Amino acid sequence: HEIYFNGLAGVLPTLPMGFAELEARARAAMAPSVLSYVAGGAGDESTQRANVSAFDKWGLVPRMMVGAARRDLSVELFGLRLPSPLFMAPVGVLGLCAQDGHGDLATARAAARTGVPMVASTLTVDPLEEVAAGFGGTPGFFQLYTPTDRALAESLVHRAEAAGFRGIVVTLDTWITGWRPRDLAAANFPQLRGHCLANYTGDPVFRARLAKTPEEDPGAAVLEWVRVFGNPLTWDDLPWLRSLTDLPIVLKGICHPEDVRRAKDGGVDGVYCSNHGGRQANGGLAALDALPGVVEAADGLPVLFDSGVRSGADVVKALALGATAVGVGRPYAYGLALAGTDGIVHVLRSLLAEADLIMAVDGYPTLADLRADGALRRN
Ligand code: FNR
Repeated sequence: HEIYFNGLAGVLPTLPMGFAELEARARAAMAPSVLSYVAGGAGDESTQRANVSAFDKWGLVPRMMVGAARRDLSVELFGLRLPSPLFMAPVGVLGLCAQDGHGDLATARAAARTGVPMVASTLTVDPLEEVAAGFGGTPGFFQLYTPTDRALAESLVHRAEAAGFRGIVVTLDTWITGWRPRDLAAANFPQLRGHCLANYTGDPVFRARLAKTPEEDPGAAVLEWVRVFGNPLTWDDLPWLRSLTDLPIVLKGICHPEDVRRAKDGGVDGVYCSNHGGRQANGGLAALDALPGVVEAADGLPVLFDSGVRSGADVVKALALGATAVGVGRPYAYGLALAGTDGIVHVLRSLLAEADLIMAVDGYPTLADLRADGALRRN
């Protein structure tokens, strides 16, 4: 309505209203190496495309005369009441997408303005404490890449706790970088340019590993980061992980029902069904196609979801398939590249407005209605 009423006064939207145009405009605005980092995926990107096209296989069945004049999109997650089921997935090195380099702070401000939580990556360009300070009243989550040494992982988690993050999302599928032809062709490993070391160079455990301070010898700090960056966790590590914090722990990258059961047995608070937006391993199942099996195995445990969400309709479909909350990655990174915090707010509000209108027109006033049997059918 806001947009149509502005239109009556001759004021047209300056930012794109759909993903295709958003991406086209962002492509034109971004430096080629940053664009290949954000837009690219693993292999020939067939998993990335499958993530998107999987949504076309499903359609919501409209219901009439239910009086959906008022909708409630709020959700409860880990004891927090969120105004909507949308969240911003962790995107590392976001600073590269921002004109002033402070993409994480811009994203935190967007979270504050919209109530849409940000999951801040371990690879933020701005230190995690500063990111958390920007959230206002909106809860935020910290995404942990587990370093090879446990003391460093522990330090990161405790810093996230102290900074006020409300949960820890542990990413399991990226202890090593996937085969990404666009990044390989550009010899593009932006992290290596030292853009993402803030959470490490500010860390007492990391600093203690170095002969000289990172300020005196950035090269040595980068090498040390490469040495400690990723750790392929095993189920045997889960008790240790669980013992680190009382904050909710969510495992990201879970697509197999058996993994959900193991995660549940290990006492985590949620699982996050995702294939990293098709950036890590090509030849995989679309994340949406893995979602029903994950939801069933989760049996009431919260299920976060991302990978391929491009519209409000996609958000609604993921919710109807049982996701508790739905994340976007590239869409908000493009919003950031185009217009900073305002661009992200525009992307998030557009997604939510479309989702809300679909629920109104199709007669599903609450998320519980949406999850009822028969809301969604395969085309
Ligand atoms: C990511 N993603 C990601 N995930 C994570 O756990 N830690 C990280 O640091 C990053 N970094 C990152 C950078 C960029 C540029 C992108 C696009 C993505 C994955 C992200 O959290 C999410 O899983 C996907 O982006 C979801 O897919 P869509 O929405 O991009 O299709």
